[in-house]
Amino acid sequence: MSGAPEAVFTRDLRRHYPRITRGEGVYLYDDEGKRYLDGCSGALVANVGMGVPSVVEAIAAQAKSCAFAHMSVFLTEPAIRLAEHIGSRAPAGLRHVYYATGGSEAVETALKLSRAYFMERDGAPSPKSLVISRWHGWHGNTLGALSVSGHVPRRRPYGLMLPPAVHIEPCNAYRQPYGPEAADWDLRAANALEAAILCEGPERVAAFIAEPVVGAAAGAVAGTTRYFQRIREICDRYDVLFIADEVMAGFGRTGRYFSIEHFDTIPDLIVLGKGMAAGYAPMAGVLVHDRIYDLFAEKSGRFVHGHTYNGHAIACAAGYAVQEYMEEHRLVERAAVTGADLGRRLQALRKHELVGDVRGLGMMWGIEFVVDRAAKTPPPRRLDVSGRVTNEAMKRGVIVYPGAGGVDGVLGDHILVGPPFVIKDGEIDELIGAVDEAIVAVAPAVFATRA
Ligand SMILES: Cc1ncc(COP(=O)(O)O)c(C=O)c1O
Repeated sequence: MSGAPEAVFTRDLRRHYPRITRGEGVYLYDDEGKRYLDGCSGALVANVGMGVPSVVEAIAAQAKSCAFAHMSVFLTEPAIRLAEHIGSRAPAGLRHVYYATGGSEAVETALKLSRAYFMERDGAPSPKSLVISRWHGWHGNTLGALSVSGHVPRRRPYGLMLPPAVHIEPCNAYRQPYGPEAADWDLRAANALEAAILCEGPERVAAFIAEPVVGAAAGAVAGTTRYFQRIREICDRYDVLFIADEVMAGFGRTGRYFSIEHFDTIPDLIVLGKGMAAGYAPMAGVLVHDRIYDLFAEKSGRFVHGHTYNGHAIACAAGYAVQEYMEEHRLVERAAVTGADLGRRLQALRKHELVGDVRGLGMMWGIEFVVDRAAKTPPPRRLDVSGRVTNEAMKRGVIVYPGAGGVDGVLGDHILVGPPFVIKDGEIDELIGAVDEAIVAVAPAVFATRA
């Protein structure tokens, strides 16, 4: 087949998109026979790899018995089983799943749920509706999710359409917001939340949303325990809900079932997505704490919200089969162990002058590029270092996930490396070898422009 497939409105109309016909384990195969090692699991989605027979069978069985029953009227067995399974593995009290279809829709749900909670509790015209979030964080492309996101290039074209939100500085150990010498920089970053709440008025603030480990917008930047514990204290002090967005980092990606567990903090709501059904079906949701669920149960019993495909039966069956497979093969533990090894081996890429930082947790790693390591100077955006490294890796049959903006919203090129948890030793060699070669291929052009 030749020519652009114009019937599909792709993200980039000038780009050539290989046509994938098959996936197996960590590999995707195109219609020309080329094999790609998926070093970023799509967008850190395909945690269990492609072609897991038990998941495929569960999907087929559910399609045969009942593909869809609208959740405004019915419940299905897979929807109940999946929610119970997630609740039994989550931090204490987080036991109720509100289903959604994708991460952005789940973020919208969490934002509206936080508003609805205060209306239930305090009476309908509660002024608590504002959500505070962080610069250089990512929560999705729908208007509400984009409004709380801190990724500048993705926000800017739609700025006038975005509902109001307040952003505070991120918590980034490599790029500390108060300079490299500042003591207690992470506590100061957390205290920015208190300042913002006081500025806006606690009576207006409903929630704070953050990724415990920032993914797409900054490249695997983890918070600290005392940062999130201080965030929790501040939220409690000012009667603000804490929403942990685990769309990318959840379901074992960082070596714990939820990444917030690294920081001994219990949020009020956890946003779920990606790894929930690991790409076998569109599936996401919000995991809700007892104290919020119980309030709805005691009061009106209704959350005015909902989408047609919430709790889709096939997607729930896929999700449950994925979670069962993870359990059976101890894949969260494996993500921790294999991920530590992956991280150790990625650290060797610091030998390149272009590599400023290699950071991450479990199977979620970020490599940030700089043109001056001592000064941590980011490359000029026009050089598109992350895009070029990604293209070079792809030429070598390896897919990684490029990003930019972690320094000031625009500058700060990085790639995310996050293969399926089932990746084998030799496949890690193949992945790192291609990234290594890709950096070597890109570096001369970057440093030539500096000279
Ligand atoms: C942390 C986080 N939240 C929300 C989203 C939005 O999810 P989706 O693309 O499924 O709408 C993403 C997507 O990358 C994400 O990484």
